[in-house]
Amino acid sequence: MILFKKATDLSKWLYAHQAKGNSIGFAPTMGALHNGHISLIEQSKKADTITVSSIFVNPTQFNDSKDFEKYPITLEKDITMLEAAGCDVLLLPSVKEMYPDGLKAKIYYDLGYLETVLDGKFRPGHYQGVCMVVQRLLEIVKPDNLYLGQKDYQQCMVITRLIQLMKQDDKIKVKICPTLREANGLAMSSRNMRLKDDERKTATTIFRCLSMIKDNLKEGNLAALKKKAVRMLEEAGFRVDYVEIADANKLSLLTDWDGEQKTVALVAAFMNKVRLIDNLLLN
Ligand code: PAJ
Repeated sequence: MILFKKATDLSKWLYAHQAKGNSIGFAPTMGALHNGHISLIEQSKKADTITVSSIFVNPTQFNDSKDFEKYPITLEKDITMLEAAGCDVLLLPSVKEMYPDGLKAKIYYDLGYLETVLDGKFRPGHYQGVCMVVQRLLEIVKPDNLYLGQKDYQQCMVITRLIQLMKQDDKIKVKICPTLREANGLAMSSRNMRLKDDERKTATTIFRCLSMIKDNLKEGNLAALKKKAVRMLEEAGFRVDYVEIADANKLSLLTDWDGEQKTVALVAAFMNKVRLIDNLLLN
C-alpha cells in the first residue's frame, strides 16, 4: 500500500493511472477501522483497478468538540488492516492539507430537507462539515466509484446530493454497502470503542429495537410502535435523540404507513456520552 500525505502527490499519481483507463474506487474514513470499513475496501477491490482509502478525523463535521477530542485513533492497526485487505493507496492528510484556507466554511451546501431532519436537525452543521471534507476528497481522488456504508443512511443521501451539486453525478457512482454487525446485532462503529463491556452489551438494544419495529410494522398509524421503541431504549438506559420511520427514498418522516411505501427505521441514542446511530430497512 502506498501512503500519501500530500493531496497534489496523490492526484498526480492517480492521474497517471486514470489516463490509462484504470477505474478508481474510493472509501473515505475517519480511521479507528473495523470490519465495516474493510467491507467497503473489499467491494472496491472486486470492482475497481485501484482502491483508495483515506483516514482523516474531520474537525468541521463535529458539532460537539468533546466528541472530536475523544474520537478514537488507532492508526497503526488501521494501516495493518488496510494492507491486509489489499487497499492500494491510503491518503493520510493533515488538517492544513485538507483545509489550506482554514476551517471556516466558504460554501453553503444546499441540502434542502435533508438538513432539517434526523441527524441534520440534531447535529446542526454536521452535514455541512461532511460536505466540505468530502468535496475536497473527491476533487483530490476523482473516483469512478465511491463506497459508503448504509450504517450512515442519511449521510449516503447527503453525499449523493453533494455529488449532484458538484455536477459530478455522471462521473462518480455512489455504491452503498450493507451495514456490518457484530454477532449480537450491534452495528460496527468506531464509537463502540468508547463503550465499556457492559455498555456494549446494552447497546445491542438498538438492533433489537429496530428488529422489533420491523416485526411489528403494520399499515396505519405508527405512533404506538415508535413509542414502544423509545420506551425499549430508555429502559435500557439510553437517552434517545430520535426513533423514526421514514420513506426509504426521500427520508420524509412517516406518521402513517400505507402498507406499500418502502420504509426505513432510524435510531440515534446516547449511551452515557457516546452517541450511536443505526437503521434498518423495513420492507
Ligand atoms: P466513518 O464513520 O469512519 O465511516 C467511513 C465509512 O464507513 C462510511 O461510509 C460509513 O458509512 C462506513 N461504515 C461505518 N460503519 C459501518 C458498518 N458497520 N458497516 C458498513 N459500513 C460502515 O462516515 C465517515 O467516517 C465520515 O463522515 C466521512 C464520510 C469519512 C467524512 O469525514
